[in-house]
Amino acid sequence: MVSRKDYPGRNFINLHELNKEDLNEIVNFGLEVKADASRSKDLMQNKSFILLFDKPSTRTRISFEVAISQLGAHCTYLDTKTSQLGRGESIKDTAKVMSRYVNGVIIRNANHDELIEFSDNSDIPVINALTDLSHPCQIMADLMTLKEQFGTIQDLNIAWIGDGNNVANTWIQASAIFNFKLNMAIPKRLMPYKEYEEIAKKNNANLTITQDIDSVIKSANCIVTDTWVSMNDLETERLEKIKILKDYQVNMELLQKSSGDAIFLHCLPAHRGEEVTNEVIDSSRSLVYDQAENRLHIQKAILKYCLNI
Ligand code: CP
Ligand code: NVA
Repeated sequence: MVSRKDYPGRNFINLHELNKEDLNEIVNFGLEVKADASRSKDLMQNKSFILLFDKPSTRTRISFEVAISQLGAHCTYLDTKTSQLGRGESIKDTAKVMSRYVNGVIIRNANHDELIEFSDNSDIPVINALTDLSHPCQIMADLMTLKEQFGTIQDLNIAWIGDGNNVANTWIQASAIFNFKLNMAIPKRLMPYKEYEEIAKKNNANLTITQDIDSVIKSANCIVTDTWVSMNDLETERLEKIKILKDYQVNMELLQKSSGDAIFLHCLPAHRGEEVTNEVIDSSRSLVYDQAENRLHIQKAILKYCLNI
């Protein structure tokens, strides 16, 4: 029988549950493999992974599949709807069975609690590939992009403009660990997840949340936004959210209020003309495609961390 001790792995579910040294090592390994892909070649020969997704994905799916292939491992993509989960098989049985086949499961799930239920029943590492509450793999790629660009993370001033969603929540978690200053402009009705904000504040995060967009922009090294309507939002909330967020668009007028060398990041997919204008996302300040590329490199580092290799 295969048991947890045969797979000495670690989960990657929420940044605040991980330690700073490990997270820094992940960022650094991401940069190393970007510079020299041979560093990761065949690191995981004979390993297998499952991507278990219940939401659409372009970047996360492709970057994990390609990373796994370049690591010399094998990957199976499973859509919850076309697996037996879609016919009501329990999360517990699914986790137990998958633990007998593969070395790790990468899950995109609409409901964070279900991901936790899966990991509680899993004997192998579970990686959070986005839930309604957080998106840690994305923020690790973003941090790698910042380090690549500025040579540091902790001295930076990051401005978040927009919805208090899963990506915003994860920036909050990261701020307490990486010690950068995080100034967020978020409408009062769309505030981030309170529990994560409280944990970050308890851990001395340098975090401000305000509705004064100009104050957030002024001293930013990096301006970040995300879609106004997330995959997990109800279709009925769509128009209302767009109305609430209409003044939070990152456009040229806003960008020009920041310092001349501030960069623009967006995890993508972008809704051009809503949270960001073409002019900004296509400008030389925008590093969105480097950021997307870095998903590939950082996934290798996250997998290496999870398998304790
Ligand atoms: N940024 C991101 O997670 O993109 P996908 O939804 O395409 O995976
Ligand atoms: N906040 C977005 C991120 C997509 C990568 C969503 O959850 O849809």
